[in-house]
Amino acid sequence: MRFFPDQFFAFAALLLINFSAQAQQTAFNWQSVAPGVWKAVVGKADGPTPLSVAAVQPKLDGLTKLGAASFPALLTGSVHRQADNKTFLRFPLQRGEQLFGLGLNFNAVQQRGTIKTLHVDHYGGKDNGRTHAPVPFYVSSLGYGVLINSARYITVYAGTAVRADGPDIPPEMNRNADRTWNAQPYSDAVDVVVPAAGTEVYVFAGRTPMEVMQRYNLYCGGGTLPPKWGLGFTHRMPTLFTDRQILNEVADFKTKGYPLSFVGLEPGWQSHSYPNSFVWDSTRYPQPARFLAQLARENIRANLWINPYVSSHSPIFKDVLPYTGSHTVWVGRVPDFNMPPARKLYKDLFTRQHLAIGVSGYKVDEVDGYDQWLWPDVATFPSGISAEQMRQLYGLQFQKMTADWFRERNQRTYGLVRGSNAGASALPYVLYNDYYDHRDFITALCSSSFAGVLWTPEARSSKTSEEWLRRMQTVCFSPMAMLNAWADGTKPWTFPDVADEVKAVMNLRMQLLPYLYTTFAQYQFEGKPPIRAMNLVDGFSSNEQTTAGTLNSTDNPYALAVRKDIKDQFMVGDFLLVAPLFAGETSRKVILPAGKWYDFYTGKLAGEGEVIDITPGLANIPVFVKDGGLIPLVPPTLHSPEGNEKVPLTVRHYGKMAGAWNLYDDDGITFDYERGKYTWTQLSVNRNSQGKLTGSWAPPTDPAFHYSGISWVFMTP
Ligand code: GAL
Repeated sequence: MRFFPDQFFAFAALLLINFSAQAQQTAFNWQSVAPGVWKAVVGKADGPTPLSVAAVQPKLDGLTKLGAASFPALLTGSVHRQADNKTFLRFPLQRGEQLFGLGLNFNAVQQRGTIKTLHVDHYGGKDNGRTHAPVPFYVSSLGYGVLINSARYITVYAGTAVRADGPDIPPEMNRNADRTWNAQPYSDAVDVVVPAAGTEVYVFAGRTPMEVMQRYNLYCGGGTLPPKWGLGFTHRMPTLFTDRQILNEVADFKTKGYPLSFVGLEPGWQSHSYPNSFVWDSTRYPQPARFLAQLARENIRANLWINPYVSSHSPIFKDVLPYTGSHTVWVGRVPDFNMPPARKLYKDLFTRQHLAIGVSGYKVDEVDGYDQWLWPDVATFPSGISAEQMRQLYGLQFQKMTADWFRERNQRTYGLVRGSNAGASALPYVLYNDYYDHRDFITALCSSSFAGVLWTPEARSSKTSEEWLRRMQTVCFSPMAMLNAWADGTKPWTFPDVADEVKAVMNLRMQLLPYLYTTFAQYQFEGKPPIRAMNLVDGFSSNEQTTAGTLNSTDNPYALAVRKDIKDQFMVGDFLLVAPLFAGETSRKVILPAGKWYDFYTGKLAGEGEVIDITPGLANIPVFVKDGGLIPLVPPTLHSPEGNEKVPLTVRHYGKMAGAWNLYDDDGITFDYERGKYTWTQLSVNRNSQGKLTGSWAPPTDPAFHYSGISWVFMTP
C-alpha cells in the first residue's frame, strides 16, 4: 500500500478532534468512600486541599447510623474536562430544584441563579464569593450535596449558563412580543471552573437537605462540641485594658448580676501588635499567670486575640524567618504553617506563654483579607504552596493547628476565627467580622448551616437602646453569645432603659444551656447543624417567584427571576424557631412550618403551617416552639456550671402532642466523650389514662450526668 503523508495527517487530525470532543465530556469515576459519600479525582492531583489541611477524620459510626444510600441518580449525567490548566465541571439541575450553600453568605440563603468566585476575604457587602468561609459546597433541595475539594479560586455558575446542547434548553422568546421574556433564561446545570489541572469532587447523598448536611458534617469529623463554658456569655474587653481593669469589669458583671463565662483580651495584651510579639505586655500584664488564676477563681476563662503575623520583637522572630513567605502583612512576617518547624515554634511559644498558664482559646483575626492587607497572589512561600492556596487555607490551617494543641492536653477550646473553608465542622471556632449589619448577620446565621461553619452576629455598639436590645437578643440565640467591646467599651448595661431586658435574655441564654449543649451534641454525633436555616426543616417550603412590574427603562429593564428566600428566621436545634426583629420594626411576618407552633414565653398557640403577623413588643425576641417540643432549662447562673456541680432541671413541654427528646451530658470540658464517657437521657411526655400529660425520665447514675432533679412544666393550657 502506498503511503500518503497528507492523508495520514488528515486522518490523525480527525482522530484528535474526535478524541478532544470526547474528552470534553468525561463522566466522573465515583468511588464510595463512606456510607452515602462518594469521591472522584479528576485530572492531576492538586494538593493541599481544604480536607487535607483540616485532616478530616470521618465519623464512621455516625455515617453508618444514617444508613446506606445509593448514588444520587440526578448526578449521573455530571461531566468534567481539563484544558488550559483548568478543570471544568458540570452537574445537572432539575426544574424547581433549589440550591443552598456556597459558603457563608450574608444576602441570601438560596443560591440557584448566582455566580461566585470563591475567595477567602473579609465580606464586602456582596454575595460574590468573597467571604470568610467560601466553602465550595452546595446542597440541593432534592437531596444531595457536591463538594469541590480544592484550595483554588473556584468560579461557580450555580444555574446561570445555558448550553446549546443542554438536555433542558428553555425556548427562545421574543422580547418585543412576550411580556414574560426573562433576562435570565432557565439553566439546567451548575458549571464550575477550577483554575487547576485537576481536583477532587465529593458527593453526599440524603433524603432531605438536612440529611445531606449531616453526612457532610459527619464526613468532616462531626460538628464541634464546645466546652460548656463556651456556650455561656463572653465579653471582649477594650483593647488597651490592663489586668486590673479587666478584673474590675468582671467584678461589675458579678455585682450587677450579668452572666459571664469567658472574657476576650484584644491586641493590647501583647507587648507589640500588628505585627505581633505573642508575649504579654509587662506594663499592662505584669503577672499574667496570677491574673489568669484570679479569673479562674471567678470561674472566668480567657481568650486571646491574635493574628499570625510575627513582629521582629517576638522571641521566635529569628528562628521562624526561614519558614516565612516573600511578603509581609503589616510588615510582619507570614509563617508558612505547611512547614513543621514553623508549627513547632508557634506551638512551643504559645504553649509556654498561654496554654500552660491557663489561656482557654484564641480569636484568630485577619486570616481572611482584605487584599490590600494580606500577601498578594505573587507571594511565594518556602513549602512551595501557591499564594492562592495559602489564602484559601490559612485560617483553616491555623484553626487545625491550635485545636490540636488543646486536644493534646485533653482540653476543649472554643474560639473565634475570621477565615475558614471546607472541612471545618469539627474545628472549635466561630466566625465573626467587622461588617456589622444586623439583618445580614442573621442571614449569615442561616447560611452558616449550609457551610459546615458556625457564625456569631456579635454585638459591639448601637445608635439606640432599641438596636442594642435587638442585637443582644439575637446574639444570645447564636453559637457564641458575645459582646465585642474592643473599640467602644460598650457594656450590657450601657443603655439603662433596656438594661433589664438585656439581662433577661442573657439569663435565658444561661437557662437554655442543657438545650444548647444537647443541640451541639447532635452536631457532633449526628452532624445536625445547631443553627438551622428554615430550608433544613421538615415541613417547610418556599417557592421561586419572578419579579412583577411593568417594563420600563429604569425600574424594570429586565424581568429577573428572584428567589423567595427565607433568611430572617431560623431554628435553634429541634424545637426553637427564632424570628428576630430589627431596630425600627414593631411587627413582622413569621413562616411557621407544618404542624402547630406555640409561643415560647406564654405557651399559647401561635399558628399552624401558616404565615403569621406578630407585634411582639421590645422586651422579648420572638421564639416559637414546635408541638410536643421539650425544652430543658436550668436556673439562671452567672457562669456555666463547672466540674461536678449538679443543677436541677425544669423541662417545659409545649402543645398538645406527646413528645420525647434525648438530653445529652458529659464532663463539659475534656474529650473523654470520645471514649464513651457521656450520657443520653430520654425525657418523655405522654398522656396518662385520664388524658393528662405527664413527664417521665430515668436519670442515670453516672459521673457524666450533672442534673439533680426534674420538674415538668406544661406550658400550653
Ligand atoms: C478587628 C477585629 C475586631 C477587633 C479588632 C482589634 O480586625 O475584627 O473584632 O479584634 O480587629 O484590633
